[in-house]
Amino acid sequence: MTAVRVRVPAKVNLALRVGGTDEQGYHRLGTVFQAVSLGDEVVADDAPAGEFRLVFNGEGAGFLPVDDTNLAIKAAKLLATRFGRTDVGVSLLIRKRIPVAGGMAGGSADAAAVLVACTALWGIDADREELHRLAAELGADVPFLLMGGTAIGTGRGDVLTPIMSSGTFHWTLALSHTGLSTPAVFREFDRLSEPQDTEIPVALLEALRAGDAAAVGASLVNDLERAAISLQPTLARTLELGLAAGALGAIVSGSGPTCAFLAGSDAHSHELAEALAVFSGVRAVRRAFGPVPGAQVLS
Ligand code: C5P
Repeated sequence: MTAVRVRVPAKVNLALRVGGTDEQGYHRLGTVFQAVSLGDEVVADDAPAGEFRLVFNGEGAGFLPVDDTNLAIKAAKLLATRFGRTDVGVSLLIRKRIPVAGGMAGGSADAAAVLVACTALWGIDADREELHRLAAELGADVPFLLMGGTAIGTGRGDVLTPIMSSGTFHWTLALSHTGLSTPAVFREFDRLSEPQDTEIPVALLEALRAGDAAAVGASLVNDLERAAISLQPTLARTLELGLAAGALGAIVSGSGPTCAFLAGSDAHSHELAEALAVFSGVRAVRRAFGPVPGAQVLS
């Protein structure tokens, strides 16, 4: 079999409502995911049976573990085990563009891409539902990166319902100098706040259906934002700067620290990028559009 190449998106949470915790300490969520074009690419190639190798290049490559603790290796091993394939191995190359520890589900995206890539490489006959179950075992965000598009997530964020969204939304993303650990942000949320109700704003769903970027911008909400800002106070300034530069909406993406700014057009997203790039609290800016499909084999 020749190598399999898979492209996978990142995600932005347009709404992230956080409720109380379950028995395992996971928070009940009500979220709206949008898959965006800032994505990673995974190349999976044959390796001798029982060998699982991983190499990164690109964004944050030097800092990422390449052993069994990496979710990408866990994904490959879980797939092999669940389908009783002791005869397989894989050599994985991951080209990273999604910021590491950035709140855009980069690690989860790579795991989703590995599930799709290894399914093809090993000739496994798994349907999307079986892959979704494996994805949910790997992490709460992994199923959405398989699905892509725009979806409501409930439960831990892994119970997905696709929703209607019209048109294309343009984003400018401000990356931070240091990452934030998702568990640490949820702990800070627990310290600062009472659990919220997890209802998703109806105005957001209507705005998405209508493709009304200004109304989407006005109804973005993230209950984790206060916790992320408490751990990285400079994010408050980043959000202010983007709004002052005319963003239709500004939000910390997921558990942060990446800040996402909604633009009215591609040209507008360039202007926002220029305005944000000069702030010393911003390491780099990226532009992206959404919604885009989930993890897909490239022909
Ligand atoms: O599922 P995943 O491993 O991506 O989650 C990372 C961490 O984020 C969890 O260990 C937990 O601390 C926190 N989390 C949470 N509630 C969720 C999703 C994640 O508390 N619904």
